[in-house]
Amino acid sequence: MLSRKVMCNSHGQDSSYFLGWQEYERNPYDPVHNPSGIIQMGHAENQLSFDILESWLESNHEVAEFKSDRGASVFRDMALFQDYHGLTAFKNALADFMAELRGNKVEFDPNSLVLTAGATSANETLMFCLADPGDAFLLPTPYYPGFDRDLKWRTGVEIVPIHCSSSNSFHITKNTLEDAYKRATKRKLRVKGVLITNPSNPLGTTVSRPELETLVDFIASKDIHLVSDEVYSGTNFDGSRFISVAEVTEGQVDLSGQVHIMYSLSKDLGLPGFRVGVIFSANQTVITAATKMSSFGLMSSQTQYLLSVMLADKKFTRKYLIENKRRLKKRHEKLVNGLQRAGITCLESNAGLFCWADTRHLLQPNNFEGEMGLWKKILFNVGLNVSPGSSCHCDELGWFRICFANMSEETLDLAVSRLVSFVESDGGACRRRGRFGLQLRAPAASMAKWVLKLSVPDRKAEQSR
Ligand SMILES: Cc1ncc(COP(=O)(O)O)c(C=O)c1O
Repeated sequence: MLSRKVMCNSHGQDSSYFLGWQEYERNPYDPVHNPSGIIQMGHAENQLSFDILESWLESNHEVAEFKSDRGASVFRDMALFQDYHGLTAFKNALADFMAELRGNKVEFDPNSLVLTAGATSANETLMFCLADPGDAFLLPTPYYPGFDRDLKWRTGVEIVPIHCSSSNSFHITKNTLEDAYKRATKRKLRVKGVLITNPSNPLGTTVSRPELETLVDFIASKDIHLVSDEVYSGTNFDGSRFISVAEVTEGQVDLSGQVHIMYSLSKDLGLPGFRVGVIFSANQTVITAATKMSSFGLMSSQTQYLLSVMLADKKFTRKYLIENKRRLKKRHEKLVNGLQRAGITCLESNAGLFCWADTRHLLQPNNFEGEMGLWKKILFNVGLNVSPGSSCHCDELGWFRICFANMSEETLDLAVSRLVSFVESDGGACRRRGRFGLQLRAPAASMAKWVLKLSVPDRKAEQSR
């Protein structure tokens, strides 16, 4: 009765990443109403600087009331505005903000931006523009689990992993790129490009200039595209400068049609509900097609209006970015130090809203079942929803992504103390009603079904998804 698209499994939402969320939603932690519930550490959300945004809104309340700076109402204009090119004032302010995030080393032409409903929509739109069903994009592992849905599901594009490993801190090399390309060609897939996240989700690291140069040389030699998802570009909290691929390709006119950047305000400003995404490309054919496609996922004029004024307030945005990074750094340190107390180290990182934690020594047995077993214990016995490395297609077992910016400091302290107790207690051989006093419900039916079938073929399916 229904379409194959609807019935197929390629949306990727049955991975442990999304199932952990479902469990959290059934039993969410609340300090007053549900103190033994599950703490959400699988959500890369930035809630650390709402107070700064709120105080700006208070001092600029007329903007939210549809008033212009001269006090006149803009309500009717906004109510009718539906041009998919977007509000000029917003695109100008966004282009300037993106340049500022890159230390003003590069400029973005507002006419080369396409507005979309979040980065999710931007990524899918780019896939529709750059590849046909059955074509492949190469992605370094581990990667953001949402890409299985965003890049593949509706477009029919295939993802071929670029296998990165902890032996060189998961850096991308010429060899790993060539290896992925070869594997794709062996599968008779036409490779259309490479997609990276910079800073990386889930590693929390910025991509170095030599790595970017390797990537640019690679896509030039193969005559394919490079997409750089830079949604975390304002989160580099350790004082080092974020280097965008735009900086590396600056002046290389022959490559400008092949390099595309996407960005959103979901992470740096903590506004995922506003659905503000953007594609930047110097390829005018891509911009024209993506602009037409943006009809399917436009950003509201109300949001554009509000943010055009906020982002144009450069004194405010500069102050915000500095303070937000200071807060992220503090949180990051708190989590890294707390995990260290539990004997867990993290990959050295300098950006993002999460840590990439190494729990390889806790795996029993040291295989996929061991990772799923540990994840289930952490979810059901300890009451923390963290994301297993396998859901990020990591080639090595025993890594977990743990988020730190979507909760209060007290909740993070509690999460860490739960984890420390868990590791101290007999390697975590906890009972269902554990020593943390958790009132744990039975896993949801979908989860129970999924965790029961942890056979080798399932592992392969999870990892190749
Ligand atoms: C790397 C990456 N790209 C895209 C997205 C989606 O962002 P948005 O909320 O703007 O759709 C996320 C969200 O976690 C992400 O981590």
